Amino acid sequence: MPISAAHIISSLAVPDVPASIRQSCLRYSVSAAQLALLEQGGIALPATLANAVLKRKVEFAAGRYCARHALQGLGYAGLETLPIGHHRAPVWPDGFVGSISHGDGHALAVAAASRDWGGIGIDIERCLDHDAAQPLVPYLMSTAEQAIGAATGMSVERWLTLVFSAKESLFKALYPRVGQYFDFLDAEVCALQPAQDGLTLRLLTTLSPQCIAGSRYTIQVSYFDNNIVTLCLLAPADTVPTTASGVIDDSAKMHPPD
Ligand SMILES: CC(C)(COP(=O)(O)OP(=O)(O)OC[C@H]1O[C@@H](n2cnc3c(N)ncnc32)[C@H](O)[C@@H]1OP(=O)(O)O)[C@@H](O)C(=O)NCCC(=O)NCCS
Repeated sequence: MPISAAHIISSLAVPDVPASIRQSCLRYSVSAAQLALLEQGGIALPATLANAVLKRKVEFAAGRYCARHALQGLGYAGLETLPIGHHRAPVWPDGFVGSISHGDGHALAVAAASRDWGGIGIDIERCLDHDAAQPLVPYLMSTAEQAIGAATGMSVERWLTLVFSAKESLFKALYPRVGQYFDFLDAEVCALQPAQDGLTLRLLTTLSPQCIAGSRYTIQVSYFDNNIVTLCLLAPADTVPTTASGVIDDSAKMHPPD
């Protein structure tokens, strides 16, 4: 039996996402039966994953299934499995942008028309425990960011997981504009919304002509169980407010179409 719409859940939806963004979430288990269901649902594993472990095969297929479902919500009728592009980025059909994340038995995808949004990044992370988080702190956060987290009263591990996820969402959204990996310390948290349901990241490094030091990006955040979901939306490049020096301010919330 192929996976039906009933298997797709929307309870992980990030709040306040415009209707022009389609979200899809699938709960999956790591099993041969789950993989078979996804394949019967039309997802084809690429040859490069032929020897991958079962977990990798299932999470790839679940993410691609969600991507297809999100695209269908935008009227896209293609049934192909999105190919793997450079640096592992999924290749979205012409005219669309999107992002995929998976973890803790959930796969998520978001998609939008590229005339409406310039890029999207989504990430889901299960909160790290204290012992796992502590050694990562200097690699993922500056001392200024550590201080922002301490002022909230959040535990180090929860704050680190939030910042980590926010930066991964930023990376996924910016990757098509930057075309290369960049470091977690190339961006920093410069503002935090009440109840930690959103934050602003500022680039500390110029990554490309479109992404220069000082540019700001809003990250939306939602929490469920012990997971954090973050979402980064980029306005189309020609609608983004910039300063005379070219600094982008995507955090001055754009006017997304609904
Ligand atoms: C690529 C990366 C962001 C993936 O994050 P993750 O937490 O390991 O895994 P997730 O499940 O959340 O996301 C995986 C999905 O991200 C997407 N992805 C991978 N590389 C990508 C890229 N270069 N651009 C956009 N999306 C990408 C893929 O769809 C992938 O799933 P798939 O391989 O099944 O298609 C992470 O492994 C990485 O390399 N990070 C280093 C770069 C970075 O984040 N820098 C921070 C800058 S502030």
